[in-house]
Amino acid sequence: MPHYADDAVFAKLAVIDNYAIAKDTMCLRVAAPSSMCAAVPGQFFMLRDLRSTDPLIGRAFALYDCDPQSGWLEVAYLVKGKLTRSVSQLGNGDSVGLCGPLGNSFDDRQTEHLIMVAGGIGQTPFLSLTKEACGKQSFGTRQTGYAKRVSLCYGARTKEYLAGIDSFEKSGATVHIATEDGSIGPPQRVTAVLEQLLKSQTDLSQVRVVTCGPEPMMEAVAKIAKTFGVRCQVSLETPMACGIGICFTCVAKVGCESDWDYKRTCVEGPVFESSEVVWH
Ligand SMILES: Cc1cc2nc3c(=O)[nH]c(=O)nc-3n(C[C@H](O)[C@H](O)[C@H](O)COP(=O)(O)OP(=O)(O)OC[C@H]3O[C@@H](n4cnc5c(N)ncnc54)[C@H](O)[C@@H]3O)c2cc1C
Ligand code: FES
Repeated sequence: MPHYADDAVFAKLAVIDNYAIAKDTMCLRVAAPSSMCAAVPGQFFMLRDLRSTDPLIGRAFALYDCDPQSGWLEVAYLVKGKLTRSVSQLGNGDSVGLCGPLGNSFDDRQTEHLIMVAGGIGQTPFLSLTKEACGKQSFGTRQTGYAKRVSLCYGARTKEYLAGIDSFEKSGATVHIATEDGSIGPPQRVTAVLEQLLKSQTDLSQVRVVTCGPEPMMEAVAKIAKTFGVRCQVSLETPMACGIGICFTCVAKVGCESDWDYKRTCVEGPVFESSEVVWH
């Protein structure tokens, strides 16, 4: 069932804060109306810097955190290209354009152990998911406290890029770190950490995996989940133009090798069952 932008609003929002959380990584907090604070884990917003027409269209950013009572929401971002470089210069008193909430969400059904696997900035959809799954906060009308255990397997190039670990731990997740250069622990990929964690589980039927990050990493995570017979959802980060289902820039192959169709990540995703994604 596509999630068209029926509940989305476009609004000019005041920046409350814009602070560094790791190397080249910032968190933007904006004052947001209740319709935007009703966003649920997995959903995203299209963000524009209203001072410029380059880029003219917004860029997609996952819901990182929000507080509907106080009326703010946050997106966390890697300073990477034109939009994120200019947004990183904003501060209290400035404003941005935000459209959302957009897209579908992660499964909120009961599970014994929810394992989140993040590569780089792919950790952003998982802070709200951790809070929800651990029963620390409710989002929209979804249930909370549906996971007995929540683990975050978090991979980064170096320890300087690891963002928000305290927030994840405070929200109830056990964090397992993998750095490619060995600046924390042995040099290894996050997929190795996931394999170790899955090997140590007594009942794999009660485990659910969710992943977000670079596509080769998500493909590898999907393969590992399949090998262990564990259900896995992926949050795809295909480049997007409109974000609302019109332009077909964001399509991904969904189905099976012999029978797939293009699905729009912005309205039929960004969350898909990994078993249904045709990676090449
Ligand atoms: C649903 C969704 C949620 C996202 N959530 C976040 C988030 O929470 N935090 C965050 O930092 N980023 C997130 N992204 C990615 C973000 O939208 C892009 O990185 C965006 O292009 C950054 O804008 P920019 O103008 O700074 O960089 P651009 O100038 O657009 O891009 C810089 C470089 O990255 C490449 N690029 C652009 N888009 C992508 C992409 N999607 N994947 C890989 N390479 C790309 C470009 O080709 C270019 O080389 C998300 C993307 C999607 C689709
Ligand atoms: S970004 Fe335009 S259809 Fe998805």
